[in-house]
Amino acid sequence: MANLFLFIARSFFNLSSFSFLLLFLLSFSSFTATEAYDPLDPNGNITIKWDIMSWTADGYVAVVTIFNFQQYRHIQAPGWTLGWKWSKKEVIWSMMGGQTTEQGDCSRFKGNIPHCCKKDPTVVDLLPGTPYNQQIANCCKGGVLNSWVQDPATAGSSFQVSVGQAGTTNKTVRVPKNFTLKAPGPGYTCGPAKIVKPSRFVTADKRRVTQALMTWNVTCTYSQFLAQKTPTCCVSLSSFYNETIVPCPQCACGCQNTSQPGSCVDPKAPHIASVVPSTGKNNYAPLVQCTSHMCPVRVHWHVKQNYKEYWRVKVTITNFNYNMNYTQWNLVVQHPNFDNLTQIFSFNYKSLTPYTAINDTAMLWGVKFYNDLLSQAGQLGNVQSELLFRKDRATFTFEKGWAFPRRIYFNGDNCVMPPPDTYPWLPNGSSHQLISTLSLLTTLLAAMAFLLGYA
Ligand SMILES: *[C@@H]1O[C@H](CO)[C@@H](O)[C@H](O)[C@H]1NC(C)=O
Ligand SMILES: *[C@@H]1O[C@H](CO)[C@@H](O)[C@H](O)[C@H]1NC(C)=O
Ligand SMILES: *[C@@H]1O[C@H](CO)[C@@H](O)[C@H](O)[C@H]1NC(C)=O
Ligand SMILES: *[C@@H]1O[C@H](CO)[C@@H](O)[C@H](O)[C@H]1NC(C)=O
Ligand SMILES: *[C@@H]1O[C@H](CO)[C@@H](O)[C@H](O)[C@H]1NC(C)=O
Ligand SMILES: *[C@@H]1O[C@H](CO)[C@@H](O)[C@H](O)[C@H]1NC(C)=O
Ligand SMILES: *[C@@H]1O[C@H](CO)[C@@H](O)[C@H](O)[C@H]1NC(C)=O
Ligand SMILES: *[C@@H]1O[C@H](CO)[C@@H](O)[C@H](O)[C@H]1NC(C)=O
Ligand SMILES: *[C@@H]1O[C@H](CO)[C@@H](O)[C@H](O)[C@H]1NC(C)=O
Repeated sequence: MANLFLFIARSFFNLSSFSFLLLFLLSFSSFTATEAYDPLDPNGNITIKWDIMSWTADGYVAVVTIFNFQQYRHIQAPGWTLGWKWSKKEVIWSMMGGQTTEQGDCSRFKGNIPHCCKKDPTVVDLLPGTPYNQQIANCCKGGVLNSWVQDPATAGSSFQVSVGQAGTTNKTVRVPKNFTLKAPGPGYTCGPAKIVKPSRFVTADKRRVTQALMTWNVTCTYSQFLAQKTPTCCVSLSSFYNETIVPCPQCACGCQNTSQPGSCVDPKAPHIASVVPSTGKNNYAPLVQCTSHMCPVRVHWHVKQNYKEYWRVKVTITNFNYNMNYTQWNLVVQHPNFDNLTQIFSFNYKSLTPYTAINDTAMLWGVKFYNDLLSQAGQLGNVQSELLFRKDRATFTFEKGWAFPRRIYFNGDNCVMPPPDTYPWLPNGSSHQLISTLSLLTTLLAAMAFLLGYA
């Protein structure tokens, strides 16, 4: 057994560049597999809860609350839209804290006209600053939901619907069907509404508990595969020990189309202001600066300094998108040294450990009112931070690209990494075999643990 281990270890030494490649192949295969299921946030979901607060003459009044339980995926402006299909002939008499986008055909009504008569209403959140008589508690956030890690207090939002021509008891009421959640694009799939134990509410003075008359939950999960987005972000690399800057891969998010002027913005063009719309509103269709990668966002990882006990990395996020101010942005980074992060400057940090044994993934996000806004291209469109890691003698090395991240997500989407054979090498790197076999094996095992996670 020991011999076998030695043999494997030797092969790793001799074929270290091969094993390096294998390692990356493994981590890349985990990239594709993450598309339908996110191994870094295996329980992530958005739950929509309907609480019936009272029965009315012809229906009920319900408070609908959307909770974003995802660790790092958030919904930013222009915000969510929620749709469903009524099971019978229900109508919405009125709403607070939200509104339907279309009223539909209410011609059969005389006198009191409902807010919405559509069989498949679509609801959007109201904007902050809505008059108080149209608000309810926890409403009116313009459809923006923070991620659970960044701020659970702003990860939820509520609206109230008064439903007519519906069941008026828990026996006759029918749950709506076919829920759709858009953020605002595709990507979320919602399950059926399930009747659950009625919610309980504690009064402000904590002296009394009330409960909903009936409650149902709908759970929606995200899949990058369904979102079918082209990549939205890429990674570039550099180091103090090699002057090469490894750029984002060419065409990482799209290719420049020279026969289609205006498909990207040349920042040096004389009339740039006339090309860039100044609507002051985020638009999900990106308008990017002309680059070889055409990505809206680039994350640059620079291995900055080497000390006896520590080493330092500088991370810079740059916005190339003229159509988006990224509010409450976040980054998820995987690197084996995150188990020994000593200091982080000007970003918030939390370790994510979906598999408790492996502590190699970190979530980073901006400090409120300081750098939690990644402004549009052309307007201070970057944020940066430095990370100080404590070296673990058994694993630390500058060889073989070890100091570079294994994967990076920006706002929950995978960033395209440069191919590993282009990483900056140590001078004469290939002749030194300092890399510890153990570290290779543990990283390999970690990669395999991720792969097994999908099964
Ligand atoms: C949704 O997320 C919450 C919080 O992580 C979790 O407790 C719950 O089990 C999840 N629901 C589903 C159906 O996965
Ligand atoms: C229903 O959703 C609420 C809020 O998201 C959650 O607290 C509760 O545990 C859920 N109930 C079930 C049975 O999943
Ligand atoms: C409906 O209400 C009755 C009491 O009025 C209760 O016993 C029953 O469990 C409720 N059913 C559901 C599905 O909530
Ligand atoms: C609604 O969902 C059911 C399954 O729950 C499905 O059979 C049906 O095709 C859906 N209808 C629409 C219009 O999406
Ligand atoms: C470039 O744009 C032209 C005109 O819109 C289009 O016909 C062509 O297919 C595009 N080429 C690529 C590579 O996208
Ligand atoms: C981004 O924010 C700046 C400053 O508030 C504003 O001037 C600009 O119009 C905004 N851009 C977008 C796309 O919302
Ligand atoms: C992971 O490592 C970081 C940095 O040393 C530490 O702060 C964090 O508590 C660790 N998390 C777990 C779950 O071990
Ligand atoms: C951090 O590094 C020190 C020194 O190398 C080591 O003793 C310690 O076990 C490491 N901590 C973790 C959580 O790996
Ligand atoms: C720097 O790294 C590149 C690979 O990206 C390599 O081709 C080059 O030889 C390295 N430079 C030195 C001085 O080792």
